Amino acid sequence: MLEVKNLCKEFNNRPILKDISFTLKDGEIMTIVGPSGAGKTTLLRIIAGLETKDSGEILIDGKPFDSGKVGVVFQEYNLFPNLNVLQNITLAPTLVLKESKEEAEKNAKNLLLRLQMKGREQQYPYELSGGQKQRVAIARALAMKPRILCYDEPTSALDPNLRKEVEKMILNLKQSGLTQLIITHDLHFAENVADQMLKVEPLSEA
Ligand SMILES: Nc1ncnc2c1ncn2[C@@H]1O[C@H](COP(=O)(O)OP(=O)(O)OP(=O)(O)O)[C@@H](O)[C@H]1O
Ligand SMILES: [Mg+2]
Repeated sequence: MLEVKNLCKEFNNRPILKDISFTLKDGEIMTIVGPSGAGKTTLLRIIAGLETKDSGEILIDGKPFDSGKVGVVFQEYNLFPNLNVLQNITLAPTLVLKESKEEAEKNAKNLLLRLQMKGREQQYPYELSGGQKQRVAIARALAMKPRILCYDEPTSALDPNLRKEVEKMILNLKQSGLTQLIITHDLHFAENVADQMLKVEPLSEA
């Protein structure tokens, strides 16, 4: 269970997030909606340990946790352009989790199979479509065995068919027990996948 309690964040004395609180149960999906500039990406970055908070608490199972437990799929995917698909996915598990190359590759191939990307192990990011890059980014995040996977606008760059595919994939991952946090501007998508929805409102200028 993820608990966020009274989270506050300012940038340059301008309040961005004020008293954000929610609880997300294991295996559930929460979508984060709200206008541009409201602080959605900032909230996700704080939960993932990529940005500091000013005050408040973030707990998993009632305890502070190390940021490795939260995976992120960024909007721009941020794949390593000089590494092929398999290398993109196995780099962190071998370096950080100290998995052997064989073990990391076996896990990576399983993930690619689950995400319908079998046979693309040797391709480079520039040889992939946007939707395929996104699957690699998801596989790369899952390879770190996160407790929670966060996505920043996973459907925004995709055509309507691919959006449906992402929706299916996210619901499949839910079936496998993954807890997911999804920023989206797509209210239809948000309603289709969400167990709960968090609205982040812009705060008036200080
Ligand atoms: N590192 C930073 N330093 C200063 N200000 C920042 C920083 N990161 C974000 N901000 C500001 O915080 C506010 C919230 O930004 P954020 O990226 O969280 O919004 P968002 O809700 O994700 O918007 P969008 O829907 O456009 O992606 C914006 O006003 C932004 O300029
Ligand atoms: Mg954003």
